[in-house]
Amino acid sequence: MSAAASTLTLTRPDDWHLHLRDGTALEAVVGDSARQFARAIIMPNLKPPVITTAQALEYRERIMRALEKAGLAAGAFTPLMTLYLTDNTSAQEIARAHASGLVHAVKLYPAGATTNSDAGVTDLLGKCGPALQALEKLGMPLLVHGEVTDAAIDVFDREAVFIDRVMVPLRRAYPGLKVVFEHITTQEGAHYVRDADGPVAATITPQHLLYNRNAIFQGGVRPHWYCLPILKRETHRQALIAAATSGSPRFFLGTDSAPHARGTKEHACGCAGCYTALHAMELYATAFDGVGKLDKLEGFASFHGPDFYGLARNRGTLTLAREEYAIPAEVAFGDATLVPLAAGESLKWRVVAGS
Ligand code: DOR
Ligand code: ZN
Repeated sequence: MSAAASTLTLTRPDDWHLHLRDGTALEAVVGDSARQFARAIIMPNLKPPVITTAQALEYRERIMRALEKAGLAAGAFTPLMTLYLTDNTSAQEIARAHASGLVHAVKLYPAGATTNSDAGVTDLLGKCGPALQALEKLGMPLLVHGEVTDAAIDVFDREAVFIDRVMVPLRRAYPGLKVVFEHITTQEGAHYVRDADGPVAATITPQHLLYNRNAIFQGGVRPHWYCLPILKRETHRQALIAAATSGSPRFFLGTDSAPHARGTKEHACGCAGCYTALHAMELYATAFDGVGKLDKLEGFASFHGPDFYGLARNRGTLTLAREEYAIPAEVAFGDATLVPLAAGESLKWRVVAGS
């Protein structure tokens, strides 16, 4: 399309990294994702975490019931379930997950790295050999929260250090393992994925494409711009934009939309996470348009993800129009409210139709 075109119709996109939560929170947010995306990879960091196939399938049922309750047609949105990797995840559990046909990946949270990661992995190569071997053999992706948890490492350096300490040794030990480096935030992450040999890809969030770390401190501390991995400096944002708009099939859309009630973000020790499910495609379109690369949005949003996961591309469409979209100040979230990323600001694109 030309830069001045006023509408953009894409193959219906998918979200390859999404937090849907549970209970009333799930009921409040699931409709937002379903309005834009056909499928999403559902993160397993519930309390308690989703560590078995049985738990993943029960969680899937709760998502399906929440969709029904939100008035969405059956089949309008497909949750792609994941397991939360622990030091004790067995090869049998991985085989069960794969055989279910409903669990599509396994998530690595280094213990203590982020929200609900306490049960995560303490020593990946030392403790998770059987699970990693099973994943490699079955062709099931390992989704990686790529930050070291070493308190001695500066919070802005934790992704870059993770590459050297964990990612490189992991991929050397399991060269056939499919790895998604989730929500990359640095030039080092983008270049590692761009240049590495073998089956590696990365998701990129809208906030890391649109903002650098100044956004967290503009005029005061702004907790709704706080997520993990944290926003980095401008050179990193530019490297992420270059990767996302490069056309490389190794980069695809993953919002990491992570809802937390307003009061738990606007708090002395506020939670990490940006709520972007409400306006995800508006945010991504604004970011791609900002560098004149709207022609690369469909690959990033709709093709590269299913191709990497070995799933069919979607058949439906999503249409955006070049119209101002005013981001609401807050939205309902059970008994609380939720503040979307960049609440009160406006974007240049709006989703106007879907099929
Ligand atoms: O900002 C984040 N929020 N990063 C994560 O890794 C987890 C997520 C959450 O679950 O809230
Ligand atoms: Zn996440």
